[in-house]
Amino acid sequence: MADGDIELEARLEEQAEFEPSAEFVAQANVSDPSIYEEFEENWPECWERAADLLDWDGDYDEVLDDSNPPFYEWFTGGKLNASSNCVDRHVENGDKNRVAIKWEGELGETRTYTYQDLYREVNEFAAALRAQGVEEDDVVTLYMPMIPELPIAMLACARIGAPHSVVFAGFSAEALATRMNSADSRYLVTCDGYYRRGDALDHLDKANEGLDGVDHGVESVVVVDRLGDDGFGHDLKGNQHDWSALMDEHDGERVAPVERDAEDMLFLMYTSGTTGQPKGVKHTTGGYLSYAAWTSHAVLDIEPEDTYWCSADIGWITGHSYIVYGPLALGTTTVMYEGTPDYPTCDRLWETVEKYAVDIFYTAPTAIRAFMKWGKKFPESRDLSSLRLLGTVGEPINPRAWKWYHKYIGNEDCPIVDTWWQTETGGMMITTLPGIGTMKPGAAGPPLPGVDAQIVDTNGEEVQPGRAGYLTVNKPWPGMLRTLYKNDERYISEYWREYSDTDSDDPDDWVYFPEDGAKIDEDGYITILGRVDDVINVSGHRLGTMEIESAIVGVEGVAEAAVVGGDHEIKGEAVYAYVITEDGYEGDEDLRERIIEGVNDGIGPIARPEKVVFTPELPKTRSGKIMRRLLEDVANGDELGNTSTLRNPEIVEEIEAKVHAQS
Ligand code: WTA
Repeated sequence: MADGDIELEARLEEQAEFEPSAEFVAQANVSDPSIYEEFEENWPECWERAADLLDWDGDYDEVLDDSNPPFYEWFTGGKLNASSNCVDRHVENGDKNRVAIKWEGELGETRTYTYQDLYREVNEFAAALRAQGVEEDDVVTLYMPMIPELPIAMLACARIGAPHSVVFAGFSAEALATRMNSADSRYLVTCDGYYRRGDALDHLDKANEGLDGVDHGVESVVVVDRLGDDGFGHDLKGNQHDWSALMDEHDGERVAPVERDAEDMLFLMYTSGTTGQPKGVKHTTGGYLSYAAWTSHAVLDIEPEDTYWCSADIGWITGHSYIVYGPLALGTTTVMYEGTPDYPTCDRLWETVEKYAVDIFYTAPTAIRAFMKWGKKFPESRDLSSLRLLGTVGEPINPRAWKWYHKYIGNEDCPIVDTWWQTETGGMMITTLPGIGTMKPGAAGPPLPGVDAQIVDTNGEEVQPGRAGYLTVNKPWPGMLRTLYKNDERYISEYWREYSDTDSDDPDDWVYFPEDGAKIDEDGYITILGRVDDVINVSGHRLGTMEIESAIVGVEGVAEAAVVGGDHEIKGEAVYAYVITEDGYEGDEDLRERIIEGVNDGIGPIARPEKVVFTPELPKTRSGKIMRRLLEDVANGDELGNTSTLRNPEIVEEIEAKVHAQS
């Protein structure tokens, strides 16, 4: 190719835009572009469109009560129950035989729950929870992997008005204890174990160890027997009950759904932030459920007849909103897969798409990068023609991965929605609407109708298109978090203080700060550039560097540690740990292993450092602050930023040499 052609080619790569097919648009749930204006002109009443997707037991008085920002309330006075919206109404509307959940175990076994089956199970487990003493507003912790009992337990909690707090099964015992302590949770539902790459993992052992770290009384623990004969032979303790035995005891029982206020808590979800302690994000019944249902309808284009699959884990917010609450509220069929995408072979996901004729598939960029690495032969060997729409979430998607996904999974025919949102936002905020918008690989898209987002500088002034700045959200939305559990002050300081006039009662003076960097183009499309706080995003999993550091400094022989994210081909970011040893200890293989072990035990395998670099000092400013930016440059092999403000500039080269020696 001549130089000119290469240049042109490169420009085309950058500029490429994609349109949804006429066929997709013709069937889309939302395809009229006037929706943007309609929502803007009719704000906040526009959000009734979301609330109308639910059945309310009592009408709300007001769409939005913004009299006490940033403690916004939505659909105030409205009454509803999330489990009856996700289950009962479909049974009553003649869809009792429609499949609600199709579950695929890693070893190949399958389970199918119709809405009637789900109704029965949710009722029985709700009765069981009540009999264990769970009352309305008690927080029930669910420490469970991807087994059907997890959504059943969530909906059973919702039925009796007991907020759930799901703890990702891959998190450690210590992480479980921290979350139960923080939520004063006296009830736990867990399981004996589960399968990963064909091996049975002992989960109850971890749960028991976690329970030892709970500082208040635990009333009851329910244990699902997932492994059967492959189990680890644990005896259940005095307050531990077998799931199936309880279900038998409550066989056929019905529990009337508790009428919840729109603003009553539906669940808590812990997530990482700047400081060491995870934040308990509080979501409500009316606003959250409306928002999850609305975005599932408008963005994921879900119809009840669809088979829809989100490959996330329910232990994260994506699974809450887009495996459980959104899809089930709309009465569709949601697929759940227990295991890893490369077991037993790298076409497992495509085999599953083919098997269930999946219509809509939603995954993370990290997974797409792994698919690319494994090669197109895997998707090519399967019939993926049932797919109509694809989605991604969790981290920025590079245009190359976007195009691979479009071509090899979507057959250049399926629109892709690149959805930006957070645990705190409850649902999607920035993405194209697949039946309306032009897609630009790499850019998530414009804010959804009714969502008001801007890119600003440190003073809160809007920046020019193309310039990097900070993403802000300038108006509340129904799916937003209401506060951090029992910590209103931290809620304000984490999300609002940066850009708001915190003395003001005027909602216009309050601006939500998601802590992401971003830029906007002339068409109003937003490209997310990544976190601007001390949070790193490993394979779409959000981890606090402080949490990892505190696990590392807890290891004997470690004096100080700094953790940063370094670029990683598949994971997006990987954990780099720079460690100073204590006097008398060597930075040797033994200590490296103990550090990795320490992170494993403190948080879980997802947070394990990719690299541990021992160093005599960390680069510090004269005021003693660690210069993380430089450590990131070193991790990425980038040219080093300015070192002139350092107290010890010579150390950076030394660290750099060590990193090189290791790679
Ligand atoms: C990042 C996951 C770029 C972002 C739903 C955000 C994204 C954090 C995207 C939230 C996207 C999520 N493009 N970055 N489409 N989606 N992020 O709370 O940094 O686990 O702040 O919620 O993930 O992670 P969380």
